[in-house]
Amino acid sequence: MTRFAYVNGRYETHSGATVSIEDRGYQFADGVYEVVALWNGCAVDLIGHMDRLERSMAEVQFPNPPGRRALGVVAHEVVRLNRVRTGILYIQINRGTAPRNHPFPGEDVRCSIVMTVRHGLGPSAHDIENGVSLKVQDDQRWKRRDIKTIGLLPNVLTKQAAKAAGAFEALLINPDGTVTEASAANVWLVDKDGTLVTRPLGPEILGGITRARVMAIAQEAGRPVRETVFTLEDVLAAREVFLSGTTTFVLPVTRIDDTVIANGHPGEAACDLRDRYQGYLNALEPGTSWHVA
Ligand code: PDD
Repeated sequence: MTRFAYVNGRYETHSGATVSIEDRGYQFADGVYEVVALWNGCAVDLIGHMDRLERSMAEVQFPNPPGRRALGVVAHEVVRLNRVRTGILYIQINRGTAPRNHPFPGEDVRCSIVMTVRHGLGPSAHDIENGVSLKVQDDQRWKRRDIKTIGLLPNVLTKQAAKAAGAFEALLINPDGTVTEASAANVWLVDKDGTLVTRPLGPEILGGITRARVMAIAQEAGRPVRETVFTLEDVLAAREVFLSGTTTFVLPVTRIDDTVIANGHPGEAACDLRDRYQGYLNALEPGTSWHVA
């Protein structure tokens, strides 16, 4: 089946869609993005993604960012054209096309907008059941990780290093020894009292939409959540460790480098949250899930 992409006002075939070689996303990674999960025809937490996208665009000072209603209409249309019910919607907005020069171009230069859609979502059944491993690495990213920028080279390199070592993800460590997150997911632990612990929002991590959803689900289930910084030692000694993210859902972690977490099997809290998150996805309403306001 033909795939379609949205590029600057036009729906084009995916293979034929192009951007200018002077696009600032291409030349400077001067752009921001979102990855939205599509589940049974629903856009998962689209409002949260739109809120974060607007925030990212404001933080990088786009003078005329596209409005969320227009973005919502395009998003729905490009998903409809691709006939994808479960998969991924990718939205990139960058500062537009202009002769290469570091300062911002004039305010008349319009943002470039690209949206693509693809089939397939979520970790493998094997990883969901058995848990995954992480490879510990230095967090070498810039100081504004709360902005969902397309400048992802450190994330790419750490994810690749994890893959090369046979691990699923990176566990990123700040110079002060505290854990930040994974290359494309947030990190949680369950401490010896059964409290769920995750790093507070701030410039050191991306404020995950799934993180916020899991927090709400945990609180509804009566599980205490504490937002606090924690170290690699805390993670290695934890009762449980898990990841959250649009493409990972809630994913138990059973090994970090050579250290097995607890008894090496996905823990009770992680499995419960994983199942509750899956239940949340299954209960979404296709119609209302596309509302952006
Ligand atoms: N990444 N931290 C980082 C660095 C991420 O890139 C992501 C998501 C997350 C989880 O955020 P959310 O729950 O909103 O997906 C945390 C997406 C999936 C990606 O880049 O493909």
